Amino acid sequence: KYCVFLKVEEGNLWRSDCRAKGGSPGFKVAILGAAGGIGQPLAMLMKMNPLVSVLHLYDVVNSPGVTADISHMDTGAVVRGFLGQNQLEDALTGMDLVIIPAGVPRKPGMTRDDLFNINAGIVKTISEGIAKCCPKAIVNLISNPVNSTVPIAAEVFKKAGTYDPRRLLGVTMLDVVRANTFVAEVLGLDPREVSVPVVGGHAGVTILPLLSQVKPACSFTKEETEYLTSRIQNGGTEVVEAKAGAGSATLSMAYAAVKFADACLRGLRGDAGVIECAFVTELPFFASRVRLGRSGVEEIYPLGPLNEYERVGLEKAKKELGGSIDKGVSFAKK
Ligand code: NAI
Repeated sequence: KYCVFLKVEEGNLWRSDCRAKGGSPGFKVAILGAAGGIGQPLAMLMKMNPLVSVLHLYDVVNSPGVTADISHMDTGAVVRGFLGQNQLEDALTGMDLVIIPAGVPRKPGMTRDDLFNINAGIVKTISEGIAKCCPKAIVNLISNPVNSTVPIAAEVFKKAGTYDPRRLLGVTMLDVVRANTFVAEVLGLDPREVSVPVVGGHAGVTILPLLSQVKPACSFTKEETEYLTSRIQNGGTEVVEAKAGAGSATLSMAYAAVKFADACLRGLRGDAGVIECAFVTELPFFASRVRLGRSGVEEIYPLGPLNEYERVGLEKAKKELGGSIDKGVSFAKK
């Protein structure tokens, strides 16, 4: 399909944007916080994703530069930049998927919960924008503490009357990505062959890898189980300390975010058997294995059989998770 009309926009002479008008199949994706440590590589990787036809890059600083840079990549997606709060609504209107890595990251010595005071307000404002401009979009929330920011978004959507639990997802994919990598190291396998379900939440002991359900089927010694559980739970802190004040995981997170976003888009397209782990808002809030489809989460799988070590871990996770969820809900209700 060829575009025949020429038009002048913002000083550039270019052909009518047929892809953005639906000339080629694909989804419209917005990244909020696109100029950040995660946002930039995430924007680059989403621009490379053939399922994306339009990519909106929003931030409160530096988004024009990132947009200009990314827009020169010769891939299919049309890129548009949005700067500052008064462009938030334009950035969100018409989007199928909204990915949110907006907010401050950890420094050494900080827990994810220490980020709450700043990031809670950012997530609240962004969620209000989504409720108004693209209430049917799938939301991938990355901003920490995920265990509290997802409940904030849920409350905002409930208040606006747009809440759909199938469409709001906290991104815990990095825990799965780390688990696959660390387990593969111990087993001496290629990480691409390994699949580790990680459930619960996205902070410390709430991150619960189910090592008894690893594929391919295998068993671990007590020492291996303790080492792997601890390393998976503290993978984020490992990076924060290595970066020594320069932030937290950005590159592996961008990779994980794209892996998860791609799964959401394949689900939207109607692909069968798209199964990933995500922090969902039912049960009431818990990271589970889910099946993704045209309307977001179409099925939440039960935890399956747990061994004694995992049952103890689950109780610890639930206890801590409850407090983080309450904190988010009461912030949003204030
Ligand atoms: P960063 O500071 O490098 O980037 C954050 C970006 O958000 C900045 O460009 C900033 O201008 C922007 N921002 C701030 N307020 C905003 C607003 N109101 N609207 C839109 N954008 C806004 O931080 P980084 O490293 O990219 O991390 C972002 C978030 O992701 C942090 O909260 C971090 O804790 C979280 N994170 C989550 C992970 C997960 O597994 N879910 C893993 C790693 C980080």
